[in-house]
Parts: sequence; C-alpha cells; structure tokens
Amino acid sequence: MAKRILLLNGPNLALLGTREPAIYGTTTLADVVAAVRAAAEARGWSVDDVQSDVEGELVRAICGARGVYDGIILNPAAYTHTSVALHDAIKACEVPTVEVHLSNVYAREGYRHESLTAPACVGQICGFGLKGYLLALDALA
Ligand code: DQA
Repeated sequence: MAKRILLLNGPNLALLGTREPAIYGTTTLADVVAAVRAAAEARGWSVDDVQSDVEGELVRAICGARGVYDGIILNPAAYTHTSVALHDAIKACEVPTVEVHLSNVYAREGYRHESLTAPACVGQICGFGLKGYLLALDALA
C-alpha cells in the first residue's frame, strides 16, 4: 500500500550542516529531506516535510496528521527532553510515529538521556545520522 509520510524536524535542525558538525556531521536538512523523499518514492510512497523551531507549530502538524498520514518520522530535537505537549499530540493523532535523533543522545549530557516523546512513539532510532531517518522509513513499512 502506498503510504503518506510526514517528516517533521524540530528546533535548530534547519542549521544542520553548519551546526556543531563534530556532533551532527555536515549533512544538511535539505540532504535529509531529499534522501527520505527518494527512499520513499522508490517504494511508491510520498513525503511532506516540515521543520519548525516552534513547539506549537510541531503540535499542530502532528495533530493535523490524523487521518491524513500513515506514518510520521519525527526528530523533536531539544523538545524531546521537555515537551509533554508533543507527547500528547503523538498519542492523540494515532499515527505511528518513529522518533529519530542524528546523535546518540545516550552518549551525551545527562539531560538528553530522557525522552518525553519516545514513550508515545512506536520506537526510537538514534546515533546513526541521516541513516536513522531511512531506518525509520523501513520501520514504518
Ligand atoms: C537531536 C538531539 C537533541 O538532544 C538535540 O537537542 C538536537 C538534536 C539529534 O538529532 O541528535 O537538537 O535531536
């Protein structure tokens, strides 16, 4: 079945490529979106993508996915560690959501070890850079 995928990236991820390259690498957000779109299209799926630095906009995008998308690939970035609102939106929308992080958050500062959003997701992938987004697509298959 052809799936409609929503690719959501949170705060500061528009700066990928130049943002702390020792941690996040030199892959840009455009590279991520293009790679996910190409992999999805190879399956006959479609991808819409949204990046926002604003928590409420991410909540709105997730809530709007209900009944429209078959899966969400979400990098909530820093909101991972703080946002009950995103957790609740993921639960409410009832769209299978895979959480992705470029870096291995468990090998970093203690405050990154807790994800408030992952328990609302079907799973979490972290530490594999861009590849993690493609693994998330496989997981949604
Ligand atoms: C991140 C990890 C978060 O802890 C951080 O706040 C980010 C990026 C990642 O993709 O590795 O902004 O989600």
